[in-house]
Amino acid sequence: MRILVFGGYGAQGAVMCTELVKHPMVDEVICAGRHIERAKKFAERLRSEKLTVMRVDMSDIEDLRRAVKDVDMAINAATYFYNLRTLKACAEAGAHYQDLALGEPIEEPKIHLYDALMKELALDQDFKDKGITALINNGMDPGITDAMACHAAHTMDRVYEIRMKDCDIIDATEPISTWSPYLLWRDMVAPARVFVDGRFETRPPFSEEEYYRFPEPIGVQPCYQHAHEEIVIMGHYLRDKGLRYVEFKMCGPDMPYAKAIYDLGLANPNPIKVKGVEVAPFDLLVECLPKPLSMEEVEQKIREGVLRDEIACILTDIIGERKGKTIKATYYAILTLKEANKYMPGTTATSYFVGIGAEAMTELLIEGKITTRGVVSPEALSLSEIEAYFKRLAEKGIIVNEVVHTPMA
Ligand SMILES: NC(=O)c1ccc[n+]([C@@H]2O[C@H](COP(=O)([O-])OP(=O)(O)OC[C@H]3O[C@@H](n4cnc5c(N)ncnc54)[C@H](OP(=O)(O)O)[C@@H]3O)[C@@H](O)[C@H]2O)c1
Repeated sequence: MRILVFGGYGAQGAVMCTELVKHPMVDEVICAGRHIERAKKFAERLRSEKLTVMRVDMSDIEDLRRAVKDVDMAINAATYFYNLRTLKACAEAGAHYQDLALGEPIEEPKIHLYDALMKELALDQDFKDKGITALINNGMDPGITDAMACHAAHTMDRVYEIRMKDCDIIDATEPISTWSPYLLWRDMVAPARVFVDGRFETRPPFSEEEYYRFPEPIGVQPCYQHAHEEIVIMGHYLRDKGLRYVEFKMCGPDMPYAKAIYDLGLANPNPIKVKGVEVAPFDLLVECLPKPLSMEEVEQKIREGVLRDEIACILTDIIGERKGKTIKATYYAILTLKEANKYMPGTTATSYFVGIGAEAMTELLIEGKITTRGVVSPEALSLSEIEAYFKRLAEKGIIVNEVVHTPMA
């Protein structure tokens, strides 16, 4: 099998490439991006004969088409702006596809996120006709969150409410970005979406503050409404299960600081004049934030005592109904920096969560354990496929827990 990873030396793509080369069914992993030197540096560190490098700019459609022509699968671990064109190129080439996020396509940056999802799903028949699968929305969130919702939808008769929480606690002597600060802050300043009784509504960024008690060792953390794609994805897939409400909150000790930055207008995307110069505070902020670390840099920061610890957690509270009784289920997974580095040196807890969250799906697809064809978000998988996914995650150290409360009478 030949697998191409766009953004293969990025924060999440590097984890995927590192794990994919270990798989016996994978013959070649092509690590692609715009900067061949960065790809070569990553290849030197990985030292796998299976890893090759390629210079590709996904903004050039012909370049992208050429890249996916002779591969069995292409993974977009670069940016969601290019999902749609990569999906189309894979459908043409007869290659499986995977991505790690849903967003507005570069061709139509102003469309509603729900319409962006519809455009991806419109290619469903093209993939089915060729007997191939496009695994969309993989990773931690989206990804594991959607798998949790899928499990609830299979095991409950009705699913009424889904409340997701992403909590990250970093102990470091300097600011650390665990993923693209540009994409993170785009979500930070965007109106947060919620699904209410069949409609998508918005809430102001950082609104509806809540102090939530996470499982130990995390404890109580502040949480705020946050723009995230699962709202439209779950709103689409689980509508018929009686879904009334979906929200996503971003949590953790750094969030009040992020809120202060937002409240002060320091993340304002609209340009302001400063001493006669026009500048968008958002651009300045992103420029000042550190770039995500390479695996080599993560190892170095850990060695130097700069990056001391990280605890990442994804948690989903779901209220539904089973056999006429109201049922409350909490799904969660927690990972620390030390645990992540035990499995794969050079990862942050977040990059391991995201990269392995996606790569475990890739493995199941190439092994024939995911047989659903077409354009498939985790919500569309069968119960046995989703159980196989949780099992594979657990083998790689990501244990998804389910705590269920059912009334006795
Ligand atoms: N599902 C989840 O839980 C989750 C969590 C975090 C991130 N994500 C998603 O994962 C993706 C990657 O995020 P990241 O944090 O890994 O970002 P990152 O560290 O900035 O990596 C992005 C990679 O894409 C490459 N790239 C960017 N533009 C490109 C282009 N036009 N053509 C080819 N390669 C290009 C970059 O290399 P060059 O600049 O050298 O080309 C880089 O290697 C994003 O879509 C993000 O939304 C998902």
